[in-house]
Order: sequence, then C-alpha cells, then structure tokens
Amino acid sequence: MGVDLNIVVVGAGLVGSELLRQLATSPRAGEVSLRIRAVARSKTTQRHPRGLGPPEFQGETVETSLIGLSSYADEGNTVVVDCTASSLVSDTYEHWLKSGCSVVTANKLANSGPLKYYKALRIAQNGRPVRFFYEANVGAGLPIFTTVRDLIATGDSVIQIDGVFSGSLSFIFNEFGCGNNFSSIVLRAKELGYTEPDPRDDLGGIDVARKVVILAREIGIDVELSDISVKSLVPAALQDVSPEEFLKALVEEGFDDISAQASSAVEAGDVLRYVGTVNAKTSLCSVGLGRYPRSHPFGSLQGSDNMVSIRTERYSKQPLVIQGPGAGAAVTAAGIFADILRVAALTSRC
Ligand SMILES: NC(=O)c1ccc[n+]([C@@H]2O[C@H](COP(=O)([O-])OP(=O)(O)OC[C@H]3O[C@@H](n4cnc5c(N)ncnc54)[C@H](OP(=O)(O)O)[C@@H]3O)[C@@H](O)[C@H]2O)c1
Repeated sequence: MGVDLNIVVVGAGLVGSELLRQLATSPRAGEVSLRIRAVARSKTTQRHPRGLGPPEFQGETVETSLIGLSSYADEGNTVVVDCTASSLVSDTYEHWLKSGCSVVTANKLANSGPLKYYKALRIAQNGRPVRFFYEANVGAGLPIFTTVRDLIATGDSVIQIDGVFSGSLSFIFNEFGCGNNFSSIVLRAKELGYTEPDPRDDLGGIDVARKVVILAREIGIDVELSDISVKSLVPAALQDVSPEEFLKALVEEGFDDISAQASSAVEAGDVLRYVGTVNAKTSLCSVGLGRYPRSHPFGSLQGSDNMVSIRTERYSKQPLVIQGPGAGAAVTAAGIFADILRVAALTSRC
C-alpha cells in the first residue's frame, strides 16, 4: 500500500538545498508520495498546504517556530529533516518525536552531545510510530550506520571500528609523499575549500571525535565526548591565537614536527593517517595520528575520501571496509534522502 509522507526541511544551505532538489525530482519514490510541506530557515519558514516545489520552493512566508513544526504530525506521517549545524534545532528533536514526527538529521550535535539527551531520543521513539535516523552523521552518504545495524541485528558483534572520518584531513595526509610539507598542504586544502575557513576546526580533531562518539554509542558504548582521547594537530602555542595569527604562523613557522613524522613514514614505505578508533573490547575511543603500512587499507586512500574499517567476529581476518567521498552536498543529501525513505517504509507498517 502506498504511503504519503509530509517532509519539513530545516536548513536550506548547501545540503538542504541539494536535498530539496533531489526530493523535487523524485516526488514519488516507489510507493512513497513525498510532499515538501515546509522549508524552515533561521528566521523564516516557507510553507504550502499542497507542498512546495521548484524552482524556488516559494510559499507562504511565516516566522520560523521550531516547536510549531510538530503540528504537521496532525496531518499525517511527517518527517522533520535537520540540515543545519544548530543546537537550537537538535534540541527540538525530543519534542518532535514525542509529537509524532520522525526525525532525520545530518547534524551531529544531538548524537554526540550529552548521553542523557542521546538516550532520551531513543526512549521518545518507544511506543510511537516515529523513527530517528542519522546516516549522514558519519561519512556523508556512505552506508555506515545501516551496515553496523545489519551486522548487529544478524548476530555479529563488533570488535573494533577504525576510520578516516574527515575529508579535509584525509586530503592533507594523502598529499604527503609528493614532497610537500605539512603547512603548504594545509594551505592548499584551505584554498581548495576542503577545510573550514579556520583550518584549526579540522586540525583540532573535535569533528572526528564527535563521529567516534556516535559510532561508539551505536555499538552500545556509553561514552561522552569528553571521554575521548583527542590528539590535536594544532600546536599548543597556536590553539588560542586569532585565525590570522594562526595562518601567519602556519606559513612562517610550518609544522615541522608533523612534516618530519610524515617524511620518516614515507621513507619507510608507510603512511600517516588521522584516524578515529572505537575499541569495543576495552570501550576505549581515540582520535589521532597513526602510522600504517602502505598495504593497509588506509594506505590506498585517495583525495578526500573517507574509509571505515569494521572488524567483527565474522569479519575477523579481513575487516569489512567502506570507502568513498565522505563530504559534498550531493552524496550527503542522498544519504538523508535514503533515511527519509527508510522512515516512510517503517512508518507505513506501524
Ligand atoms: N556539507 C557537507 O558536505 C556535509 C557532509 C556531511 C554532513 N554535513 C552536515 O550537514 C549540516 C548542514 O551542512 P551545510 O554544509 O548545508 O551547512 P550550511 O550551508 O551552513 O547551511 C546551514 C543552514 O542551516 C540554517 N540554520 C541555521 N540555524 C537554523 C535554525 N535555528 N533554524 C533553521 N535553520 C537554521 C541556515 O539558515 P540561515 O541562513 O537562515 O541561518 C543555513 O541555511 C551540518 O550539520 C553539517 O555538519 C554536511
């Protein structure tokens, strides 16, 4: 039987606008009829009772009320899709779930924030025809959480997850071996738009740590972000200076220590990679620079690809490896779209 799904998109930046485009070109995905009922930005929301469409997704403009978006649940199956990086939005998930809206998110804040709220979001789904999915939290559109869930649901148990989870850091370390030093590669990554405007946001490792927290929790480890051992690539002396001073120091002083480590690794036929690890046996999680032989799966990484290696009881000799672009609007939006279809498939059975 077909299912109608109301979609409320919160955030129409890079990812949100690409998602709207993908949804508009697939208004019927199999048995599911998708209606974009509202697009909420920080200040204003566009809405239309019969659904918004391209090219501009224009409708009635009202002031954004995040709490008020839950009213769509009174009109049928509804999913609220978070395409922001806002805590105001992620703090509203519990209300939406309890009001009968499913939630799909690319925003990492709820799943990597306080464990109490993480658990409250799982409890809020109990006994309600709602779902909470977040495939795009790690590896953009790569099927990481669906794979981990399938492994666990079929009786396998995870031993360890290792991953290169940052596209920008993947690019930076994949460039070593071409005779460059660390500073020049960071500057090039910044010029190419792979890093945040202040590259310390990538080099500090917190974004990778958030992804590690979310994966650890997925396999049942109760961990807080503050429990993760994070080895930042930013020298202590440059952590608190202004972005301009940091970039000046990067150019003038370089990051000799990391360049030396990389050269020594390359000479020995190894590679350096910035890796997040979840050890299910010890429940320990870490984020930092590691040295791997070129023959290791991480040795074959290219460009800004992500790679996740999942070692389980069944995949014990050779880990299960998932690799591909871990950022970019098109792949991220496709990961979110797939979650929306999963919501539709599951809510139609409730
Ligand atoms: N870009 C990628 O490749 C990628 C990959 C994986 C995951 N993600 C995640 O996807 C999310 C979105 O990324 P993006 O690159 O699309 O960011 P972006 O271009 O900066 O867009 C963010 C959008 O969020 C909106 N927003 C902020 N606060 C809001 C609020 N309180 N209520 C409603 N809307 C609000 C902003 O609208 P206003 O302009 O009105 O403030 C803006 O349109 C982030 O969590 C990011 O980590 C991105």
